[in-house]
Amino acid sequence: MDWDGWTRLAWEARERAHAPYSKFKVGAVVVGPGDRVFGGCNVENLSYGLTMCAERVAIGSAVAAGVSEIRAVVVVAETEAPISPCGACRQVLAEFGDPEILLVGRHGSERFTLGELLPRASTGILDRL
Ligand code: THU
Repeated sequence: MDWDGWTRLAWEARERAHAPYSKFKVGAVVVGPGDRVFGGCNVENLSYGLTMCAERVAIGSAVAAGVSEIRAVVVVAETEAPISPCGACRQVLAEFGDPEILLVGRHGSERFTLGELLPRASTGILDRL
């Protein structure tokens, strides 16, 4: 699979979003070694703070399947500019590598590394370099 295929899967995952409060549906795909692919969508709750972002749902699915290295991520939403992962999701992603991240909106996409979106994610913590 490739970026186009992963992006298609992310749009499919987005369809399953549970977003009755914000009405803002997000889809994500994370890719592990051997091109193993896991989708996620945002899951909102009446108690708003319990909302789970699409990215972290996808990460949880990968980890639950035994995948602990994430090499690529795609995040899609119907936005004017490509969507951007929240700070919490960036930090959680940093736990599992420095993936390439494709952010996709209505009119195009932009690619980053996680290191670009979240510099110094772990430097100094528990004496990490
Ligand atoms: N959301 C995501 O799922 N991923 C992002 O990258 C940004 C925001 C969700 C959380 C909430 O359900 C809705 O989008 C509005 O913030």
